[in-house]
Parts: sequence; structure tokens; C-alpha cells
Amino acid sequence: MSDVRPWDNSVEAQAMAGAFHATATRAQPIALEEAGFTHPFHSYAGRMHPLLVRTLIHDFTQPGERVLDPFCGSGTTLVEGMAAQLRCRGSDVNPLAVRLTATKSALKDHHERMQFVDAAIRVHEQTHESIKARELHPAPLPKRLLGQWSGHVLRELGCLHHHIQQEKAENRVHLEMVLSAIVVKFSRRQSDTSPVETEKRIRKGLANEFFLRKAQQLEQGWKDLHTSSGQGSPSKVCTMDALRLDEGLPPSARFDWVITSPPYLGTYNYADNHELRYPWLNMRQPSAENEIGSRRNAAEQATQGSNDPMDWEQQLRTLLHQIQRRLTGQGGALFVVGDGQIQGQRVPIGPQLDRISKQTNLTMVTGASRTVQDFTGGKPRREHIILFKLT
Ligand SMILES: C[S@@+](CC[C@H](N)C(=O)[O-])C[C@H]1O[C@@H](n2cnc3c(N)ncnc32)[C@H](O)[C@@H]1O
Repeated sequence: MSDVRPWDNSVEAQAMAGAFHATATRAQPIALEEAGFTHPFHSYAGRMHPLLVRTLIHDFTQPGERVLDPFCGSGTTLVEGMAAQLRCRGSDVNPLAVRLTATKSALKDHHERMQFVDAAIRVHEQTHESIKARELHPAPLPKRLLGQWSGHVLRELGCLHHHIQQEKAENRVHLEMVLSAIVVKFSRRQSDTSPVETEKRIRKGLANEFFLRKAQQLEQGWKDLHTSSGQGSPSKVCTMDALRLDEGLPPSARFDWVITSPPYLGTYNYADNHELRYPWLNMRQPSAENEIGSRRNAAEQATQGSNDPMDWEQQLRTLLHQIQRRLTGQGGALFVVGDGQIQGQRVPIGPQLDRISKQTNLTMVTGASRTVQDFTGGKPRREHIILFKLT
């Protein structure tokens, strides 16, 4: 599905259409895995295609400029920004997203990378020995989640978790993310976004093998990022509500660009998506209270007999106000957004943003759109890249 349409003949709209085209060959979409760096390391629903972001960064920014992504998710903007020698800052309301972004965008020199790989090999070998010796290291799970893995997989993941905890903190944080990258794949759950149980035949030792492979994949991605970034400035990442940038950012922090993808209304529940991961990361499941546009909130609104997206519009208004105060005026804000969904009805985001931006000092300059398949099972939806500039 690829009916890419620039909104007008401007250079900017053509560049945004080009960014959409970059993610697809004529026949098929390019696999995320082909984009390199640390992108393929960990799944994350709703992540942007790295080649889309790479093209936008190439066409709109200059090395050394400052970029903010206040909905950083798995860190696509930060990884691509660092590779293009931008100075990046990212935040997300979900602490797992923040940890994942911190791992994916870590700048590790050769020595640090080798230390990490040594630690991963050690954990892998100790786990192998523990399984052979039938040692039992209980999984750090609440009772309600125990049935999500078959017995032998759970024992293996428990051993991996135990041996990771014995490693030094600088490696442990990343090894835990490696574990996070594999736990859903080896569970009975179909995927991050679908809790449907499926029968998976998983032989003994496979989770442990995958753990090592993932760690090696991360090391390779770090190596490429380190080279491309010119060992430039590491990114800053923190947990922050995008509607409260004023409370989370230093008062003087300004950015030439905001390159981001806010949630698509009524599409995912990001906090719930990672339910199986939090305990392995020694994290509590975060509250979904401040998550904007979630499927859960849209459904609640619908059961209250309203499909009036006023709350959502209020949130978008606050977001645009927060962003406008942070821009230098040199660049602008690039949003990758999709039409929303309430009660099975599409809610076009373009007219909403156009209306709301008129109440701010941001002007919606131009954009490009395309139709994409809806991975949540709904009708195909329109997705847009939109450029805003300070008035
Ligand atoms: C479309 S995803 C971003 C994906 C990201 N661009 C990537 O490539 O991985 C939207 C993100 O918004 C985050 N989010 C939702 N409400 C938020 C809020 N109020 N403040 C900050 N982040 C929020 C979600 O946790 C999710 O990670």
C-alpha cells in the first residue's frame, strides 16, 4: 500500500513524501532490520521506520543542531540523530521506553563493548551450566504472569535473570534490556500488542542462545553508531510527560528541531504492551494515567456515549504550546502522525492539528500523507508527516 501524496509542490512537502518512499521499494516495505545501528535489537509497537527518520534528518537538519523527541519510544529519532551528528534529547512517559532508548543510544567505545560481550558470554555460559545442573532460580514474576511461559523456558529465563544480577551495573542495565528483548518472543503471547495465547514449540536452550545472539546484535549496532556519530555528544534521555516539558526540561533548554511521533488516537495502550517485560527489568508496571491518546481512553470515551475528541484536542493544544516554547525558530517541528480511531470510526488528525495550531504560535506549513495497513486490525489509515514552524 503506497499512495504517497505531498500536500503541495513545495520542496518540504516533496522531501516528506521522499521520506515515506524511503521505507518502501516499489514491491514491498523495507524490513526495519535492514536499517542498521541498534534498530532491530528490541521490538516496540508504533516505532517509526528508521529510514523515514534518516531521510527527514538528512533533508531538514544540519550536523550540530539540537533535536528533541518528547515521545521517544524505542529511540529511533535519537539513534538516527546521533548517527547524523545532531545533539539529541529524548523523553517518554514510559520508563521502559526511556531505558530502551538509553541502551540503544549508548555511545560505547571498543573496550566498553568488549566488556559487555564478555559479560553476555559469561551469563550465557553460567545459564547453560545452571540448566544442566537443574538449578532453580525463581523468575521474578507475580503469580498472575507465571502461566505466560512454559515451564522449561521459565526456568531458563530465571537462570538468565539470576546471572545477569551478578554482573556490574554498567553491563547489567543493558543485559536486562537484552532479556527484555527476548521475553515476549519466548512467551505464550502472540506479540507485544496481542495477548492471544499461541502454541510455540521452543526447544531447551533456545532462549539462552537467543540471549547471546541479541547481545551480539546490540554490540554490532553500538559499534556502527559509535563510528557514525563521530563519537559526538551522547544523547540525554529521561522520563517526562510531553505535556509538561516546562517541569522536566531546564528553563533555558531550546531545540532547533522537534522530530517526533505522538501516539495515534485510540490505537495502542503502550503501558500495557510491556506487561510481560517489567518484572524482568525489576520495574513496576507504570501507571497509564498520563499516556495520551491510548486505546483504553478512547474506548472509555466511547462507552460514555461520546466520540467527541475534545480531551484529545486539549492534549494536542497543550503539546503544541509546550513545543513552541522550546523551539529556537531556526528549524521547526516534524510530526509523524496517523489518523485516530474511536468506535471504529477514523478521526482525521490533519484538520485537528490545523485547527489547534491556529491557537498557538506554530504554523502548520505543509506535509505529505500515505495510506498504511492498520496492524490493530482496523481499516487502512492515513499517516502523515507534518511540518510546523514558529510564526
Ligand atoms: C508512536 S510511539 C513513539 C515511537 C517512537 N517514535 C519510536 O520510533 O520508537 C508513542 C510514544 O508516546 C509515549 N507517550 C504517550 N503519552 C505520553 C505523554 N503524555 N508524554 C510522553 N510520552 C508519551 C508512549 O509511551 C509511546 O512510547
